[in-house]
Amino acid sequence: MVPKEMITESDELQTVKILCVADQVDPVVYSQNMKERFRETAFIIGAGDLKMRYYGFIVSMLNKPLYFVFGNHDLEYFKRFRRPREDENSETQESHMVRSYFGSTCIGDKLIRHKKTGLLLAGLGGSMRYNRGESQYTDFQMYMKVFRLLPRMVFNRLFRGRWVDILVTHAPPFGINDGDDRCHTGFKAFLWFMRVFKPRYLIHGHIHLWDMNAERVGRYQETTIINVYGRYILELETVSGPGRKKGMIADPKVTRVSNQGPVTRVTDPEEQ
Ligand SMILES: [Fe+2]
Repeated sequence: MVPKEMITESDELQTVKILCVADQVDPVVYSQNMKERFRETAFIIGAGDLKMRYYGFIVSMLNKPLYFVFGNHDLEYFKRFRRPREDENSETQESHMVRSYFGSTCIGDKLIRHKKTGLLLAGLGGSMRYNRGESQYTDFQMYMKVFRLLPRMVFNRLFRGRWVDILVTHAPPFGINDGDDRCHTGFKAFLWFMRVFKPRYLIHGHIHLWDMNAERVGRYQETTIINVYGRYILELETVSGPGRKKGMIADPKVTRVSNQGPVTRVTDPEEQ
């Protein structure tokens, strides 16, 4: 993160708008005029529990990359993206693993860099284990997933000046935006992730909001946590200039977030 007072005249600020979707089809997104409405989107984030056909619609309309993680529902194509388990009958296995489908790239257990903006995204999909179904994990298993991201994150820390910018998950962190029942309990592994690797944003789904005006933005240490539910437009600014690493995010005080259609500016959650 680049503090506001460190931004000089030789620096260039680039506004990046990211369309985030999760959990339910949003009528504003799933519409004829969405191309016009979201034309400034740099890329799309899917935080799970959505059909791949919906992702395909968004990609075909905007012609921008879409990065997603799986949730705990709508797992029709989940097997295509993961390595078959040893105990699975080979006849029921998908014949090959894919990374992209319906024009959408799964970033579950991966760390990628969006070339145009230089932003670094990591993905940790699934929910807390509650009925031994697919894409459900214990907190311990989630810690293991975080550890598997370490080599790439160390590379980023050494050569790009930070571990990761945006962590995309389906479940929330423990105690923040999460629920009381087992299925909707958040992961402690995400709290640890935020303490150690300090992503600027954690984008998650899974927690349904019955009141669309309910608070959906939280804060933990240096990370802004956003419950996407439906759609959310994340707007941030990256700083580029001599001697700067590409994709560095500017101070949150010059970062704007909104959740309703074309971007409307609201203050940073810290200031509210
Ligand atoms: Fe979910």
